[in-house]
Amino acid sequence: MEKLLNEIKEKIENVTDLKTLNELKVEYLSKKGPITELSLKMKDLSIEEKKEYGMKLNAFKTEVNNLFDTLKEKLEIEELNKKLESEKIDITLPSKRIRKGSKHPMTRIKEELEDLFVSMGYEVYDGPEIETDENCFQKLNLPLGHPARDAQDTFYLENEYEAFLLRSQTSTGQVRVMEANQDKGPIRIVCPGKVYRRDDDATHSHQFMQMEGLVIDENVSMADLKGTLETFCKKLLGEKTNVRFRPSYFPFTEPSVEVDVTCFKCGGKGCSLCKQTGWIEVLGAGMVHPNVLSMCGYDPEKYQGFAFGTGLDRFAMFKYGITDIRTMYGNDERFLNQFSRKDD
Ligand code: DAH
Repeated sequence: MEKLLNEIKEKIENVTDLKTLNELKVEYLSKKGPITELSLKMKDLSIEEKKEYGMKLNAFKTEVNNLFDTLKEKLEIEELNKKLESEKIDITLPSKRIRKGSKHPMTRIKEELEDLFVSMGYEVYDGPEIETDENCFQKLNLPLGHPARDAQDTFYLENEYEAFLLRSQTSTGQVRVMEANQDKGPIRIVCPGKVYRRDDDATHSHQFMQMEGLVIDENVSMADLKGTLETFCKKLLGEKTNVRFRPSYFPFTEPSVEVDVTCFKCGGKGCSLCKQTGWIEVLGAGMVHPNVLSMCGYDPEKYQGFAFGTGLDRFAMFKYGITDIRTMYGNDERFLNQFSRKDD
């Protein structure tokens, strides 16, 4: 035992790392090592001898273990200190970027318009996208079989829901607000939202955004309509914008107009965007048809109103130079990221 202890002491003195120490430990303390061999000798001894030998062997084993444990502890501390020295954390390194979402260009336009109309005393009304034929057409003076329905062919629901369709225009908001208004008094609302039609090309998507406006009061005239829409166009597109009203036809207004603005790309000189006319059509509008008023519970002898409807996609396309409407509904991050702003 003494010989073995000296041998271990000698070898352990030269050990400077944990790996070698472990190898040495295995060499001496494993089941096939010399210390096990010493234990095996017990079986050849008498009871008396066993007692003495056993005590010595235990003391010897404890000493050997202590030798290994002490050095192990020392080496571990050394190794940790080395690690701490070499692995300094550089707190000046940039942190990981947190990816932030951004507002969709359509949301930006919608919010901008809502703010504008709220500042003029309007309320924002949010109607459902699934509608009845009555609200989408009949009460807007488009009875079953009316030819103007063709331009707004939409998606109809099936089976037990076949009375419903996806609204093709936000004009449904007019019907809903007039009918819900118990006192049948004045109304001033805008109704932005998604609408659906059976269209699909670079400038027409099966889903797009509109905003409807409705003002009902006594003594409302075409002059109010004109002033309101001029203000709206100039605020949104710039004070230099000229606004032009052309006679038109919509079943729910009489008289009806279409509203053009000077082309925001060429300023009215004529370019490819405005097809060399200098004008771009942005709104449909008119005085609410007496039939619509009375179908929605308003007395046309007492009240008049004006209404307008505009496509928000068009404004977003013009404002941000978007050439294909379908990119706005494609959810491609490369497109959407272009609209992120620091202040979102
Ligand atoms: N609803 C019409 C459309 O989708 C737009 C419109 C035209 C709305 C004239 C109006 C209006 O309120 O008076 O094409």
